[in-house]
Amino acid sequence: MNLLILGSGGREHTFAWKLTQSRICDKLFIAPGNAGTASLATNVPLAATDFPGIAQFVLKEAIGLVIVGPEEPLVKGIRDYFAGRPDLKHVKMVGPDAAGARMEGSKDWSKGFMQKYAIPTAGYATFTLQTLTDGLQYLRKQNLPVVLKADGLAAGKGVVIAQSHAEAEESFRSMLNGQFGEASRKVVIEEYLEGIELSVFVLTDGNSYKILPEAKDYKRIGEGDTGPNTGGMGAISPVPFADEHFIGKVEDKIIRPTINGLRNENIQYIGFIFIGLMNVHGEPYVIEYNARMGDPETEVVLPRLKTDLGELLLAAAEGRLAEAAIEADARTAATVMLVSGGYPEAYEKGKVITGTETVQDVLVFHAGTKSGPNGLLTDGGRVMTLTGLGNGIEDALGKARRAAEKIHFENKYYRKDIGLDLLKIQAGLMG
Ligand code: AMP
Ligand code: GLY
Repeated sequence: MNLLILGSGGREHTFAWKLTQSRICDKLFIAPGNAGTASLATNVPLAATDFPGIAQFVLKEAIGLVIVGPEEPLVKGIRDYFAGRPDLKHVKMVGPDAAGARMEGSKDWSKGFMQKYAIPTAGYATFTLQTLTDGLQYLRKQNLPVVLKADGLAAGKGVVIAQSHAEAEESFRSMLNGQFGEASRKVVIEEYLEGIELSVFVLTDGNSYKILPEAKDYKRIGEGDTGPNTGGMGAISPVPFADEHFIGKVEDKIIRPTINGLRNENIQYIGFIFIGLMNVHGEPYVIEYNARMGDPETEVVLPRLKTDLGELLLAAAEGRLAEAAIEADARTAATVMLVSGGYPEAYEKGKVITGTETVQDVLVFHAGTKSGPNGLLTDGGRVMTLTGLGNGIEDALGKARRAAEKIHFENKYYRKDIGLDLLKIQAGLMG
């Protein structure tokens, strides 16, 4: 079968790497892809949101399965677009329709969903400019810190954790006054949860589901989890405290009610559900849902998946997931992201990347790269991620970090403390 992946990041490079090993994969295409995916698949110069362009390509190349990487095409309704065209109805797709993608696309909707189905999450209320006065009153009564979230997609920037009521009030007003455009026309005010974060990934065909290996990612730019949020600076899988008992609670209190809730809402959800969780004294609470896989979590989850990914995704897309089984590698995967100096604020692109051919014992996944006349160039804030597999966190991380030192470009930056917090937790668990 011919497959098409939509997206251009490290997540999509990892999907491409894993899918080239699949028994079902004949030709593999990726739109638009990056310099890394070009070595595994055919890059197609189409934006992931160019639905008519993608449709035309799918028909021309007889694509049987489309795998949607990022959230934007999902929230904009790519599944609905395909379902609405008689010539495309037969094409299978991994990724929910626009109604399902509201899990990620509207924080207000997903909080309402969790409340309705008694899924543990932080207490909240939603306000608009029309209810500003009520919102300010509500805000002043909240304990600190307090969390403010733009309702819609804001490229990972729509969350503020305010340490004072004055700061909260200022952010609240500026969000409602259009700081993130349409996305912050509604603002969710949420209780702050204290604990350790982790991400759990579920693949569902709308009835059955499979739980993939969990991961922890590192969102802040600075070491010791300081500075602004990024798309993700590294990830580790498995997570030491996410033992069978804890994942069992996640399944009972969160995953099953989520799948049942979606069905009850008449949403036929086919695709990934990425559940961002806070472990609060051993109890899981949902911080957010995403309608896709995480990036760079995918770069540690898929290398641990022993199952044929193509067969698994096709089973989900065809409603046969109950037949499938998931097998995970017991080893630890660690990934370290190399970013452009200045990211997540302004940064320069087009820097020459050297050293990729010298790294050993790691998987190299490109995030923002392109080919120039004289070789590989940076083409984004997040440039490249290096995944090591090993016996335990130290072993896996050592491989990733040694590789990170060998790759060079001007103003390269990466966090040297990825996974160190988990090593401490692990030492504590072992007493
Ligand atoms: P999000 O964009 O929803 O992933 O939020 C970004 C980050 O803000 C999360 O990864 C958490 O670290 C933090 N965060 C969001 N909501 C909460 C909350 N209710 N309590 C504590 N931290 C939160
Ligand atoms: N790494 C977080 C995300 O993909 O949203």
